[in-house]
Amino acid sequence: MRLRDGSLSGYGGVVPDITRLILQDHTWFRWQFAALDDLQARNPVDVEAVRALWDPLSARLDLHAIAEEQIFYPRLLEFGEDPEAETLDAISDHNDIRDGLHDAARHPVATQQWWDAVRRARVANDEHMGEEENEGLADFRLRAPPALRESLGAQFAEYLDQHRTTQGVDTSDKDPEGYVREVERGLQPRQDRPTDGGTSLGIGSLKGR
Ligand SMILES: [Fe+2]
Ligand SMILES: [Fe+2]
Repeated sequence: MRLRDGSLSGYGGVVPDITRLILQDHTWFRWQFAALDDLQARNPVDVEAVRALWDPLSARLDLHAIAEEQIFYPRLLEFGEDPEAETLDAISDHNDIRDGLHDAARHPVATQQWWDAVRRARVANDEHMGEEENEGLADFRLRAPPALRESLGAQFAEYLDQHRTTQGVDTSDKDPEGYVREVERGLQPRQDRPTDGGTSLGIGSLKGR
């Protein structure tokens, strides 16, 4: 949804393709965690400054994952090189990130338990962003039509424009295999995909990883 001034907030009024928007969020996440280091290094720590940085960062991490799950991964499953494995990995990583975020929310800001939970979320997110950038995003640029990437970019921006906090949003973990099955049930089979009714996900070997 465009704002009154015609811009899509957060993206400078420009709607590039979805892979660029995701990458842009990833860059912002890295900067915010670096800024959090600076706040942690202060003595004494300014708890309100930490909270002011963390609340929007934590919300955006949750919302970014959900936006990807609603808008990006369903289409990656049509165009990726090894989309099922990449998507299973991504949803599992998103769960790890969520676990850290939601654990942090259970502790007072800037306590040791809070910093530990934030650290877990950061490490999980950092690992995931690298994989997502080198696999899913790269695959999508190589295989998905530019018009689709732009159309999904508009949807991604719209979702994040409409959701500034996680209030009313289901941020619970998702079962990776259930997610892939659900998405694939709604997809048209690709011409080069084995015609097995679309239910074979090749995920048996991934179980228990
Ligand atoms: Fe991402
Ligand atoms: Fe992701």
